[in-house]
Amino acid sequence: MGNGVGGREGGATGPFGTFGLFLARDGQDPAMSTTILLDCDPGIDDALAIAFAAGSPAIELAGITTVAGNVGLAKTTANALAVASFVGLDKVPVTAGCAAPILRPALDAGHVHGESGLGGAVLPTPARVAESGHAIDHIISAIAASPGEITLVATGPLTNIGLALRREPRLASWVKDFVIMGGSASRGNVNHAAEYNIWADPEAASIVFEAGWTVRMIGLDVTLLARATKAIQDRMSALGSLGSSLLLPALAQYADSHDTTGEPPVHDVCAVVSIADPTVFTYTPARVQVETSGRFTSGMTVTDFSPSIIPNARVATAIDADRFWELVLDAYGSVAAKIG
Ligand code: BDR
Ligand code: CA
Repeated sequence: MGNGVGGREGGATGPFGTFGLFLARDGQDPAMSTTILLDCDPGIDDALAIAFAAGSPAIELAGITTVAGNVGLAKTTANALAVASFVGLDKVPVTAGCAAPILRPALDAGHVHGESGLGGAVLPTPARVAESGHAIDHIISAIAASPGEITLVATGPLTNIGLALRREPRLASWVKDFVIMGGSASRGNVNHAAEYNIWADPEAASIVFEAGWTVRMIGLDVTLLARATKAIQDRMSALGSLGSSLLLPALAQYADSHDTTGEPPVHDVCAVVSIADPTVFTYTPARVQVETSGRFTSGMTVTDFSPSIIPNARVATAIDADRFWELVLDAYGSVAAKIG
């Protein structure tokens, strides 16, 4: 494979052979940035997270893998390709993964994200298609080729990650860090108990939380506080085509489907921002277990903060929302300056 984004191209060799990992965008100091793989289901807020990654000097996006979630796999993959091209990430490989949860039927949250999955955003058709191969293979190969260097981020149902761990349990020790947008220590959003990404595939989420690594869980407890207020949306309207063709029409649908405030939360952006600046969120160690059989609680992340437990997660419990938006708008400003 091997794709360069106007920067140097590196082919690292690991237990799974040579995997081309591009390491630096133009003008970006690789020593100052964290390399991430993003597993996602675009999805309005997933799209906004990709746009953030494109503009943040602290993030090097090495690959995007897709999963069924907010809409079906064909749409999440097409959306990932379209958003990546639109924000200038044409050479970041996009690889499709699982079309349905491990044990449960495929879902659709089109009532939240719109029929396409991107709300009212209509982007140009990208000139490329997804990589050949499966997301699970891509995740394992990429991380095996650069042990300790790649942060894995998941902003959709955890099907790809759960199955990757089943195939290659050493993944848990090869990642630099593992971050999810998902779960909640308090309320859910699908129902009182469960957050969407965990509820969609609780068996996969259970595998992920029991994998022996520390999951950095950016859940609803904090993402519901990262709202695109009217003032933030006003600032987005000054961002040229990024604002007018992607951010604002996507958020308009999200606002309609979320609540009556017109100020929707941008859940998935939080996960990527947490990597760009570790000070934005405050964490509390916890033991998180996923309910897979509850009659009313399937998909609940049962979160125990007792000091006596052996933690398997660091759960985000507070957010500096001002700093969050400062970083996000700076990154979007950089993307806007490039794409006009
Ligand atoms: C999560 O569910 C999805 O609908 C969003 O994209 C986000 O990842 C929020 O619960
Ligand atoms: Ca998502």
